[in-house]
Amino acid sequence: MKNLPGFRDFYPEECARRNYIVSTWREVSRRYGFVEYDGPVLEPIELYEKKSGGELLGQLFDFVDKGGRHVAMRPEMTPTLARMVAAREKDFKKPLKWFCCPQFFRYEKQQRGRLREFFQYNADIVGESSPAADAELIALAIDILRELGFTDQDFVVRLSSREIWASFLKERRGSNGFSPAEVDQLLAMVDKAERQEESVTNKQLGLLRVTYTDVQSWAAFWNQRILDAGSAAEGTSLAGFHELLHSHLGPRGLLDYVDVDFSVVRGLAYYTGAVFEIFDRSKRERALAGGGRYDELLSVMSDGKASMPALGFGMGDVVLANLINDTPRAKARMEAWIARRHAADIFVVIANETRRPEALAIAQQLRDTGLRVDFPLTAASFKKQLQTAVEHVGAEFAVVVGDEWPEVKVKTLATRQEDRIVQTELAHWLRNRQKGI
Ligand code: HAM
Repeated sequence: MKNLPGFRDFYPEECARRNYIVSTWREVSRRYGFVEYDGPVLEPIELYEKKSGGELLGQLFDFVDKGGRHVAMRPEMTPTLARMVAAREKDFKKPLKWFCCPQFFRYEKQQRGRLREFFQYNADIVGESSPAADAELIALAIDILRELGFTDQDFVVRLSSREIWASFLKERRGSNGFSPAEVDQLLAMVDKAERQEESVTNKQLGLLRVTYTDVQSWAAFWNQRILDAGSAAEGTSLAGFHELLHSHLGPRGLLDYVDVDFSVVRGLAYYTGAVFEIFDRSKRERALAGGGRYDELLSVMSDGKASMPALGFGMGDVVLANLINDTPRAKARMEAWIARRHAADIFVVIANETRRPEALAIAQQLRDTGLRVDFPLTAASFKKQLQTAVEHVGAEFAVVVGDEWPEVKVKTLATRQEDRIVQTELAHWLRNRQKGI
């Protein structure tokens, strides 16, 4: 029987690649002072109906459970995070910096970079309205990709702010000439514009009495204005955005990784201010990551009790794995990491089956010292055992237990050097050898 479309089997090699990605997410997060959390895989459907909005609602894996509750497998983390923080807001010192690496489920059309099940790193900061926090998250996303072996030649952060789109309608129709729902509609249309025919976009935008040319020139006007490091944005709603670029990302030397592009608005309903998406420069892949500010969500979630600014981003494993595979530098780094972890330190070769009890005792003692040890579970020829040690286990040493007892032979497999060691000295000798002493 085959697995379901869009769902993956993780054989050991795929699991090793996934572990590499997740371990990099964790390591770089800690460098930035983020702590890990998690939430439930299943949530009440209202959580997403109210908070996520947009395309996501049509993609939910939802069902009625045996208790009659309408539930959904989690498609994203942000509503859960907002619920969790709002519930115990007073327990945490702000700004709160949390990350997680969960698995999500979306009933999407299966295509390159998009599956129905995926892992997604999330990093969020709650309780900080300064653009310094936006910069910290963008820097974190960039550093994860650098740690994986990518450079500014490989990817770009497309940075934008939703704020210009409310002012776009205001400009066209005057302050009272449009509703908040129309701003949401406009954002959804701008979000889809890049992925569909221009005629379809124009037809949709016509409902709001604007054209795609109007939208493009508005984005281009602001793209140009914000790039000016002078005071062009002062006094406008984009002052904070200007600061983010020129006072926070610039001094960190990260502007080469960033393109300002106001046509990026993001598909989820809760974003309020600066938003960004990360793409590969070759444009072969769908977005690698996306996020932004959602300053109202905690308030909505807690009926106004916990009102706090918040921001974050998500980065999926699927596009990342495609990109690693297509970038030799990144691929070599991953393979070296996997080889280091996959290798056992020692394979105990049982050259004489009557010595199996002694061999088992040695394996156990070495494992007790923290060394990674493997051995044949049943009798096998000497040649076959050595072959297993080299080809399957990738061990550094073979410890041969046989007729020399109470001495054992230690073969250093890379150099073929052979030493005879008294078994009581073995653990100490191996440790020193590993340290190069
Ligand atoms: P999102 O843009 O829906 O944002 O997803 C973020 C990333 O998750 C995407 O750029 C992509 O790498 C990955 N992703 C999304 N859907 C799929 C899929 N079907 N298959 C494979 N990968 C996928 C969010 O989810 C926001 N909650 C992120 C966020 C966190 N915003 C604030 N904090």
